[in-house]
Amino acid sequence: MSATTLDLTPLADTTFGATIRGVEIRDLDEPTWQSIYDAWIEYALLIFPGQFLTRDEQNAFARTFGELEFAAAPISNMGKDGTVHHEPGDDVVKSLRGNEGWHFDSTYMPVQAKGAVFTAEIVPSGGADTGWADMRAAYEALDDETRQRIADLKAYHSLYYSQGRAGYLPSKQNAAGGYDLYGYHDLEPSLRPLVKVHPVTGRPNLLIGRHAYGIVGMDEDESVALLDRLADEACRPPRVYHHRWEVGDAVLWDNRRLMHRGIPFDMTQPRRMWHTRIAGERESELAINHA
Ligand SMILES: [Fe+2]
Repeated sequence: MSATTLDLTPLADTTFGATIRGVEIRDLDEPTWQSIYDAWIEYALLIFPGQFLTRDEQNAFARTFGELEFAAAPISNMGKDGTVHHEPGDDVVKSLRGNEGWHFDSTYMPVQAKGAVFTAEIVPSGGADTGWADMRAAYEALDDETRQRIADLKAYHSLYYSQGRAGYLPSKQNAAGGYDLYGYHDLEPSLRPLVKVHPVTGRPNLLIGRHAYGIVGMDEDESVALLDRLADEACRPPRVYHHRWEVGDAVLWDNRRLMHRGIPFDMTQPRRMWHTRIAGERESELAINHA
């Protein structure tokens, strides 16, 4: 299929990411879609300013990249009745605060997500930025000794672990002592390699982040120290980019290569983002122990 030339500007001073203007996401022809797909694989993060997509349009765009893990869901401190959640002990606030740690989406599920479409509907005055970090470039920046040390290591991934460590487990428990919220499942925690090959590019990525713990063959202190060190060194310039949102922005990212995080904002101000999660393909994104 032929591709078309995009009005694409790579992000400055980073190893990934690009801004694309001059396209209407809601009405893409086949050659333009192909160019966007190619750019997504090359840049991993695509920013489309001023799209103002409806939820249906956002979901339809996401579906062109694969099946959905879930359709547009609000990432918001606003309740259905418009209440703004901002108290530290509030479960909505806890969930949002947890996302301030660097992570890949759904590594705690049996199948890691392929990517996401994320749009801004209501943006607080401070911007409430989102950050992304390039785990391919992070892997490439490792010294040989570290690469050899981690080559065959595996870690578990769990939302119970990440939210618990950060002190943000929900207050509201179900009768079984668990949580009726997405990601808190009763399956065995997902086991994943620390180095994972991207299924399209064939290039290795670090697979770490806040959900990762319990490296097989290490005691807990050693595992925590190694995972924290890798994340700390990985998520530094030029491998990070933080986006200041404008209402109407849409972004598409590759969750097989990039980690992301939310930046703290004044939660007394309303914020509403919409997140459509693109499901990973089982051939490449299934946890080792869920085969
Ligand atoms: Fe996330």
